[in-house]
Amino acid sequence: MSFNITKARERFPALQQDQVFLDNAGGSQALGDVIDSITQYLSKTNVQLGASYHTGSVSNTKYEEGYQAAAKYINAGRDEIVLGGSTTQLFMNLAGALQFNEGDEIILSKMEHETNVKPWLFMAERLKLTVKWWYSSKEDGLKLTLNNLKPLLSPKVKFVACTHVSNILGTIHDVKAIADVVHEAGALFCVDGVSYAPHRKVDVKAFGVDFYSFSWYKVYGPHIAVLYASNSAQQHVKPMAHFFNPTKTLEDKLGFASSNYECVQSIPQIVSYLDGAFDDIAEHEGKLQKILLDFLNSRPDITVHGSTSTDSSVRVPTISFTVKDVNSKKIVEEAEKVSNYGFRWGHFYSKRLCDEVLGLGPEAVTRVSMVHYNSEEEIRGLVKVLEQILP
Ligand SMILES: Cc1ncc(COP(=O)(O)O)c(C=O)c1O
Repeated sequence: MSFNITKARERFPALQQDQVFLDNAGGSQALGDVIDSITQYLSKTNVQLGASYHTGSVSNTKYEEGYQAAAKYINAGRDEIVLGGSTTQLFMNLAGALQFNEGDEIILSKMEHETNVKPWLFMAERLKLTVKWWYSSKEDGLKLTLNNLKPLLSPKVKFVACTHVSNILGTIHDVKAIADVVHEAGALFCVDGVSYAPHRKVDVKAFGVDFYSFSWYKVYGPHIAVLYASNSAQQHVKPMAHFFNPTKTLEDKLGFASSNYECVQSIPQIVSYLDGAFDDIAEHEGKLQKILLDFLNSRPDITVHGSTSTDSSVRVPTISFTVKDVNSKKIVEEAEKVSNYGFRWGHFYSKRLCDEVLGLGPEAVTRVSMVHYNSEEEIRGLVKVLEQILP
């Protein structure tokens, strides 16, 4: 049965109220099935894992099914993932465990949410590594490419990190092509998939990455994240487990007992909802972004930061803009006065991008971030709101 966008809305209890959710890159709404499964789990099976009595074994099975579903969903082995509190937390855990030699180089990008920067700066300080910065200027198209990466690569570079999609710009990076070049240079490649995963299928093997993370609370689930590390990349990860515990899987190495049980066991609900849905999602999202971008692109006083293309193979519908002589905060405040549209302004933790690359002031951008459960009618309504409040 093909995925039906209109029917999809019925699956989200939060959408049945008087609010239009357009801050989805901040956090999506949760599926009703996820909410129900968490209630069931806490009501009936909330016991410490590992026990052999009846309820204990039910709980063990549910937790294991959650892990298996998450691994299968991203095309990883069960031993190649760990689930934990947030992407930031999981990258921090990884940054404390990765091993490199003093004087090795790492490449970090300035197009990132700080989550994919700070942990590696901490790692560089801990291991005495040299940091090189990677970015793409406005003139260069604000896109990380092989052209702007290659001049930074050398045999000394051992680790490269970048985002799959910026949470401001929305442009999709070709992580497969980047992974190939990074590997040719002999380095490991880490990708922040947080802004990509709500919109497109994640397949870590097809991407060819060494490390990949995203947060299920932006993918219609509860507040938990997943980190993938390939079996070969795990050779560089020093196990952080208690001395008497196993150290074989990524969960053993970096789990720190932080895979929240009720959240883990709800993952099969998300996976089953998204099964086979992404072609329809990409098509529908393309229609949504076209409505908003056609309006924004038609106004000479508006700058869209990132690609102005409406093509869903180029970008996801996370759209940031500034209006000449109007601050971004004011736009949100005025929209809230006249409508039930929820979207936001600011740097969204991509501060280096907003300050150093885009050269914006403290209010940075207005960001409208849509997902598949937004309707075309909602976005046409947003255009009317913007027409009403903008000079
Ligand atoms: C691109 C990107 N990376 C990372 C994060 C941080 O994710 P988490 O809250 O799970 O640490 C966010 C959150 O907004 C994000 O948009």
